[in-house]
Amino acid sequence: MDPSTLKVGEKMFKNPSLVFTIFGSTGDLTYRKLLPALYHLKHRNRLTDDTVIRCIGRKEYSKDEYIAIIEPWIKKQTRFSFNQETFNEFVKHIQYIKMEFTNKDAYSTLLDYPVGLDNLYYFAVAPEYFTVIAEGLNHVNYLSDFKHRVILEKPFGDSLEHAIEVNKVLTNLFGFENLYHIDHYLGKEMIQNILAIRFGNRMFESVWNHDNIEQIQITASEIVGVETRGSYYEQAGALKDMLQNHLLQIMSYVVMDKPNTLNSSDMLVKQKSIMEGISLDDIVLGQYDKNDKFLAYRDEKNVHPNSQIETYAAVKIHINKGQLKNVPIYLRTGKRLKQRATYIKIIFKPSSSNLYSNLHQEVITIKVQPDEGISLSFNAKKPGTINTITDVKMDFCQSCILENRINTPEAYERLLDDAFGHDDTLFTPWQIVEMSWKFGESVRELVKIENRPLVLYPANSQGPKEADEMLQRDGFEWLDEDEISY
Ligand code: BG6
Repeated sequence: MDPSTLKVGEKMFKNPSLVFTIFGSTGDLTYRKLLPALYHLKHRNRLTDDTVIRCIGRKEYSKDEYIAIIEPWIKKQTRFSFNQETFNEFVKHIQYIKMEFTNKDAYSTLLDYPVGLDNLYYFAVAPEYFTVIAEGLNHVNYLSDFKHRVILEKPFGDSLEHAIEVNKVLTNLFGFENLYHIDHYLGKEMIQNILAIRFGNRMFESVWNHDNIEQIQITASEIVGVETRGSYYEQAGALKDMLQNHLLQIMSYVVMDKPNTLNSSDMLVKQKSIMEGISLDDIVLGQYDKNDKFLAYRDEKNVHPNSQIETYAAVKIHINKGQLKNVPIYLRTGKRLKQRATYIKIIFKPSSSNLYSNLHQEVITIKVQPDEGISLSFNAKKPGTINTITDVKMDFCQSCILENRINTPEAYERLLDDAFGHDDTLFTPWQIVEMSWKFGESVRELVKIENRPLVLYPANSQGPKEADEMLQRDGFEWLDEDEISY
């Protein structure tokens, strides 16, 4: 069946098994992530024949024009080699509907299109529109029959108060269990691997505690600037865009005590306990300045010339309970840095051995992207007749193996597939979203109370020197990661 022919003027009795509706179909997220993810699912035969991908946008495009726009994006983003035949089959699932989604009455347009037995909406728009869309759908009675679920993009609101309000409205209209808060980092292979590494190995599990671990560092650095997303970023900044969600999620996986099972409810208990125990110790906020190659943030399109928004954030926190109680944890993220890399460093306390001198730091590194893998740095004897110690590295590069790369879905691909199958394990429960917001607010509060300045850092650097000084005050330094290319 060709789902694009399902449009009917009269009442439709035949309902597709799944209608996946994207609000914000002409936005960056849809082009860069959602449509390529859906194309991958098509390639892997994960879309039922009658799945409808309903793309709602404000721009006046015909279906053919829309397809012509998305084709180069999919060619660019596909993790398989592009296959024209698959693409031609894929676009049969797509409908493009021009609709002014801020106008309640415009939703009656949707009544011309069949509702699915299962309807999943993706709100790929700014959070101020979440309730507008939900109320628009309700206004024309679109939510009355069959199942209706929603995937929401972070930051899920403009403030804690707003996020609570949005959650209330959406819960009323869709039901609590039908709201999926997406944090695409949870769909990344190595983030899932953190728990397997920690709890699948006695040699790691037994040392993963405050007796052995001196400090933890989590870095998510990006080379890109704000690109075309200036207006969004002016509202979000690095705190709401990355730190209070992606980095906190990673941190909770690194730090949480062992859950009874990997079920979402058992995981929630342990994650909640971590989030309740976070204490904020220090913070550095920065903004990228120009260099000879790149514009300053303030000169980017749709950015205020005196913007005080941070494009870099580094925080020092600790958790006041659990196995890693009081271990310093440093999180940093930023745009226009010199490297694209996300990694976690577990740094051990110096060995208590008095048999050797010049011992090096023992470190476990979990590489999330672009390279995926894990490496161990430890001490060994240097070959020769004298007992000299050298630091050696054992490196498992997961993504260096072609088969692993082929079998690793992109984060959005995995998460959409899960949502289609009603599996919410890798979505963030509302309780955690709320706690992340509380943490974010506490950071912003501290910045305000202590009048912390926003520091500038040059584009293409490792970030502001103030972030280095934050660690130096504790006698530490950031451990950077070399890139491996396969
Ligand atoms: C998104 C942020 O959630 O994550 C972007 O909004 C950021 O600003 C992106 O660039 C990074 O994701 P990834 O998967 O490329 O690390």
